[in-house]
Amino acid sequence: MSNESDEEFFKLWMSAFQESMEKARQRTSSFEYEMQQHLYKDFASKYDKAISLESYSGPSKIAEKINDLVFDKNIKILDYGCGTGLVSEYLIKFGFSEIDGVDANQEMLNLAKAKGTMNKLILGRNDEGLKKISSNEYDIVCSAGTFFLSATHPGTECFREICRTIKSGGYFILLTKQSYLSCSYVNWSIVEELEKEHVLEIVSKEPYEGYRKHFPNEQDTQSTGIIFTFRVL
Ligand SMILES: C[S@@+](CC[C@H](N)C(=O)[O-])C[C@H]1O[C@@H](n2cnc3c(N)ncnc32)[C@H](O)[C@@H]1O
Repeated sequence: MSNESDEEFFKLWMSAFQESMEKARQRTSSFEYEMQQHLYKDFASKYDKAISLESYSGPSKIAEKINDLVFDKNIKILDYGCGTGLVSEYLIKFGFSEIDGVDANQEMLNLAKAKGTMNKLILGRNDEGLKKISSNEYDIVCSAGTFFLSATHPGTECFREICRTIKSGGYFILLTKQSYLSCSYVNWSIVEELEKEHVLEIVSKEPYEGYRKHFPNEQDTQSTGIIFTFRVL
């Protein structure tokens, strides 16, 4: 084989390889996402009990944050990744009542619906549920324990759509485990872009201790949670 045909063959092989890798990545990620959603589906009815055993603080902490931030109890709130509706239960205790939820998992939403703490419940993965919502609909979008949990959970790619649903001057409040922020799949450059475009600004980043207990097999020994408050411009 001449050098030229070697080169041609290598190019063809590389392009076929890239194409098959791309397909494999897509298959892997949709497979992992399906596995993740199966886990939530099978686990849904036991979720609230399990969460209380592990002393997960997300729902109470985020509701406290919202209560400290706003005085008006009639504001419209969207809980992104609402799961079984734990955040709404705390918000109700503080006197908020205009709460909608969005989540990718129908079983989790069914349990949330049965609690009767939220009005509209919207099904959708990542920003698919958000796309069903009109612009400037909410005063606050909040999210606890959903962002950055794994590569198949929502990431900053959803931020633009979230901001679109929030009124100018409203807030996006995100609570997560601090250590998740250093995972390779977290793309913070999207936040920087949105800041440059004057879509949002970061008002505060508040770490706190006691996100939840560690799991016995967990390597990450940190238990620091973090609450981001973004203002939509
Ligand atoms: C750990 S639960 C947290 C639920 C609730 N926020 C809480 O604090 O109890 C994470 C939720 O994210 C949802 N979820 C996972 N991946 C998602 C995705 N890609 N898009 C939208 N929701 C997703 C799951 O269905 C689940 O209800």
